[in-house]
Amino acid sequence: MRTILSFFMILLFYASSSYVAQISEALDTITVNQSIQDGESLVSAGGTFELGFFSTSVPSRRYLGIWYKKVTIMTVVWVANRVTPLADSLGTLKVTSLGSLVLLNANGSEIWSSNSSTDARNPVAQLLDSGNLVVKDVDGTGSSILWWQSFDYPTDTLLAGMKMGRNRKTGFERYLTSWKSIDDPSPGNFTHKIDPNGFPQSIVKQGSVVKFRLGPWNGVRYSGMPNLDPNPYYSYELLLDDDEIYYHYELLDSSFISRLVINSNGIVQRVTWIDRMQGWTLYLTIPKDNCDTYALCGAYGSCTIDESPVCRCLTGFTPRYSQEWDILDWSNGCVRTAPLDCGKDIFVKYSGMKLPDTSSSWFNKSMNLQECEEVCKKNCSCMAYSNLDIRGGGSGCLLWFGEIIDIRELNINGQDLYIRMAASESDLLHSKQKLLMGLAVSFGVFSLCLVLTFCILKNKRKKKKHLEGKDDGSESGDNSECQKEDLELPVFDLGTVAIATNNFSEENKLGEGGFGPVYKGVLEDGQEIAVKKLSNDSRQGLHEFKNEVLYIAKLQHRNLVKLLGCCIQEEVLLIYEFMPNNSLDSCLFDQNQRKLLGWSTRFGIINGIARGLLYLHQDSRLRIIHRDLKAGNILLDNAMNPKISDFGSAKCFVGDETEANTIRVVGTYSYMSPEYAIDGVFSVKSDVFSYGVLVLETVSGKRNRGFRHPDHCHNLVGHAWRLFTEDRSMEQLDELVESYNAAEVLRSIHVALLCVQQCPEDRPSMSAVILMLGSADELPLPKEPGFYNERKLPPEHTFSHPVHSPNEITMTLLSPR
Ligand SMILES: *[C@@H]1O[C@H](CO)[C@@H](O)[C@H](O)[C@H]1NC(C)=O
Ligand SMILES: *[C@@H]1O[C@H](CO)[C@@H](O)[C@H](O)[C@H]1NC(C)=O
Ligand SMILES: *[C@@H]1O[C@H](CO)[C@@H](O)[C@H](O)[C@H]1NC(C)=O
Ligand SMILES: *[C@@H]1O[C@H](CO)[C@@H](O)[C@H](O)[C@H]1NC(C)=O
Ligand SMILES: *[C@@H]1O[C@H](CO)[C@@H](O)[C@H](O)[C@H]1NC(C)=O
Ligand SMILES: *[C@@H]1O[C@H](CO)[C@@H](O)[C@H](O)[C@H]1NC(C)=O
Repeated sequence: MRTILSFFMILLFYASSSYVAQISEALDTITVNQSIQDGESLVSAGGTFELGFFSTSVPSRRYLGIWYKKVTIMTVVWVANRVTPLADSLGTLKVTSLGSLVLLNANGSEIWSSNSSTDARNPVAQLLDSGNLVVKDVDGTGSSILWWQSFDYPTDTLLAGMKMGRNRKTGFERYLTSWKSIDDPSPGNFTHKIDPNGFPQSIVKQGSVVKFRLGPWNGVRYSGMPNLDPNPYYSYELLLDDDEIYYHYELLDSSFISRLVINSNGIVQRVTWIDRMQGWTLYLTIPKDNCDTYALCGAYGSCTIDESPVCRCLTGFTPRYSQEWDILDWSNGCVRTAPLDCGKDIFVKYSGMKLPDTSSSWFNKSMNLQECEEVCKKNCSCMAYSNLDIRGGGSGCLLWFGEIIDIRELNINGQDLYIRMAASESDLLHSKQKLLMGLAVSFGVFSLCLVLTFCILKNKRKKKKHLEGKDDGSESGDNSECQKEDLELPVFDLGTVAIATNNFSEENKLGEGGFGPVYKGVLEDGQEIAVKKLSNDSRQGLHEFKNEVLYIAKLQHRNLVKLLGCCIQEEVLLIYEFMPNNSLDSCLFDQNQRKLLGWSTRFGIINGIARGLLYLHQDSRLRIIHRDLKAGNILLDNAMNPKISDFGSAKCFVGDETEANTIRVVGTYSYMSPEYAIDGVFSVKSDVFSYGVLVLETVSGKRNRGFRHPDHCHNLVGHAWRLFTEDRSMEQLDELVESYNAAEVLRSIHVALLCVQQCPEDRPSMSAVILMLGSADELPLPKEPGFYNERKLPPEHTFSHPVHSPNEITMTLLSPR
């Protein structure tokens, strides 16, 4: 989350502040006989908002608007005369005796009016602390009637307390319209509104064309905004009753400054003001990525951002025009492979989806999923159904009529969608069972065969990943949850890989990985790959190899390294995307490379690793603990995005299981949490500990292992703790980093210290870490870190099976239990 400092806004601030008179006693109200001239302003009672005249970078156009009073970057949230700017600074705002707000030019002609004329008797205009400009009639008894409010006529900003939506009785609609450009507040081409057709959904339009769809409301969030989660900053909801449909949000902490805006490029953003940085920070954005582009993959085409290309047909469908499809023109979408026969059709469940366009849908809040299916089955033009509300296991019924469009797969918080399919596709219901791996069988002699089975199973691209049968006949037993998923990996021919790697030549060798050497290669089509080879004599390696295949093939996230395929002939190989910038380890601890790692890159890496780890811990369908997070296992792509690699030691957890004991402690000592190194107890919090160490290393450019300081004998963690307690944390920053954002540096160190606390319970979860890194909120004080003083393991521990990795040793130690 980067600070958005709009230079224009700064400009604008300076341009206008010279015009805004510094009236000492700021009023928030004007009455019939008062007016405001250009140069004067109203300030809301709490000092939050200001109403006055401003211009953008074009000084000859003056506007009446409302902006944040407390925010040092001029940020306009509402404009009255969007299309009719004043030509000079001689405008006047007054309240007519009839109760209209009017803006007059130098000649006294009306250039804008609120048109709120009524039979008001004693009208006043008041700027409220919510940013709402109201015209009300105050009668003798002190009670008042609201005649008009600016909240009913939003411009490009939705403030807390505003409604976006429609009155179903009167048809009155409130929506956001972008500015035409950054210096022209007149209405631009983009609107953000609630589409009331079918089941209401939130959309962004350019003119009359839908650009993005946030999706229908599922009781918790918009279906297409998986990251929108209940949070301590603001509450939000979409209200739907007989009278009204509207979205609104309320700030939970009045000191928190946040707004939702559609900018002149049609991007919807929620930004929050970070006092300490004196800047706006991005909190959420629409579109998130290319897959949010409306109907990108056409009817029955599904978009998956981690796939390349992103579009493919849902299982059971095939491109309508395969030639177009092959040249990446997906607009005509997909068609069924087997025709429907209404009476006999079945419904197949697709999981992890953003619900499709609901503009031609029908809904019923009280029906359950079974009733929903019955209704859909009966009507031959009903193509899909789902639950309306996901809360409490799901309720309500949503039916789609006609072609299903704008589907994407989500990594987290996706929903189930049941699509009508021909009865002949009934094997789709059971495909999961067919692909089930017998991996619950304990690892032993057969393990290599099993690994082979994985790879051989389907030698084509992953296709049925999201498909699940409805009658789920799930297996029980130890960790089967983690292992029963189907796996389909492309198979590479040994010859191809040998050519690509120059016959596994020494020059192509990148180093030694968890279970054998790693080579660089270039495929015939120019794609660069990294190839891991299982060394013949490595029993340990075989185990890790299995782990790696098991986990990484199932995980898809931009902060995890991607497995492209495998090869099992005379050699057992895993083929990955190649990471041109090598590992974090090689960049961070190399004197020359280190200089090139600027602060923003480092902060990007810190955030990226956190997101990857969050995905492992909670967002992926499995709960995975990496157990060997270290700088050597973070690879960097072209753009220096971090990718977590090496799942050789990873462990999968089932359901609510949160920690486990192990006799085999694997990992890298200087990143290991105390409870894991000493007691062999590991949990997600052990990864959090390693992450904290990694952050400290990234900030300082120094290894935890072997860290030496003249003043004390602590390791890097201990050093960080010392500096923190003495309020000298900035000294931790790598002296080779020239320009930096001090707030980000301090925050990273603070968060890292929270992560390396002695007790696992005290350490934050990765989702908390991400929030803390991206917000300005005060952080809890860290307690003493674990292992900050120690330099060696307690003597009763013995190491076995050291496995070499290029720079630091990943070790397995047996602890006597
Ligand atoms: C406005 O001014 C007129 C004349 O000065 C006066 O008669 C009237 O009472 C005033 N109205 C208010 C609301 O103060
Ligand atoms: C005011 O009136 C004069 C004369 O009618 C005209 O030239 C001028 O353009 C007008 N100014 C504005 C701001 O409308
Ligand atoms: C007020 O009414 C006038 C005349 O009907 C119209 O031109 C103007 O756009 C209206 N103003 C607003 C703010 O709706
Ligand atoms: C708005 O849309 C019109 C017509 O679609 C187009 O000509 C114009 O360039 C667009 N303006 C902006 C600012 O995108
Ligand atoms: C919704 O479903 C319930 C239960 O089946 C039914 O009683 C009700 O009439 C339905 N409402 C509408 C609007 O169809
Ligand atoms: C199926 O549903 C559509 C949309 O609600 C409706 O127009 C049509 O009449 C229904 N057909 C039957 C056979 O019920």
